[in-house]
Amino acid sequence: MSKRGAFIVIEGLDRSGKSTQAETLLKNLQDAKIPSKLIKFPDRSTPIGKLIDSYLRSESELDDHAIHLLFSANRWEVVPSIIKDLEQGTTIICDRYAFSGIAFSASKVHPPAKSASPSTFPIQPTPKLSYEWCRSPDISLPAPDLTLFLDILPEKAKARGGYGEERYEKEDVQERVREVFIRIGEEIESSGVGKWVVLDGGLEKEEVEKSIWDEVNPLTAGLKTPIQKLWD
Ligand code: TMP
Ligand code: MG
Repeated sequence: MSKRGAFIVIEGLDRSGKSTQAETLLKNLQDAKIPSKLIKFPDRSTPIGKLIDSYLRSESELDDHAIHLLFSANRWEVVPSIIKDLEQGTTIICDRYAFSGIAFSASKVHPPAKSASPSTFPIQPTPKLSYEWCRSPDISLPAPDLTLFLDILPEKAKARGGYGEERYEKEDVQERVREVFIRIGEEIESSGVGKWVVLDGGLEKEEVEKSIWDEVNPLTAGLKTPIQKLWD
């Protein structure tokens, strides 16, 4: 069997440098003559992606379950092309994947109940969707061979020129999202399916680029192992 391409995912909070690093990695792979392709989720160009785009820009409202399932469907609609590319030997770099899907949805919380007598204990916000529920629609997606999580403290990400105007681009949301990402990473590492690497996204661009290349380089010769399935 000829070798297949590697499936590499880059994850992180908003403004962690993901998209810049994904583009730099594509260029570095192409310079090294490795057949490669960059994809991104959400893919806002498809009919499902257009619904997601309108929701993110707060031009429409959707039930939390419904938008979660649309994000997942937006990945499933690309699965045949991901598998075809990998089998043909193309390395795929993927800017966000199912991990963002879980992290952002499982971070949604009910607004704190107004209590008549203020409690001296901090009230824990209650999640709207459970972690397990958020994970289920993405079970069996192609599993990444390597996930690079660009870790950055939300306050540092914010200081990088501020968040944009989209839904979720707020510091308290990003703090909860980061906690969920850390949990996902621990689970992926202990599952033995794919490698999860935490990189300091707060470093200079060139330093992050170098650490990414150190992780990706061993995969550029191609892989003989079959494509695995996520959480199967
Ligand atoms: P983007 O800024 O990378 O285009 O992503 C748009 C937002 O969508 C970002 O705040 C993360 C969020 N998101 C989800 O809520 N669920 C998902 O499944 C994905 C891929 C992104
Ligand atoms: Mg964004």
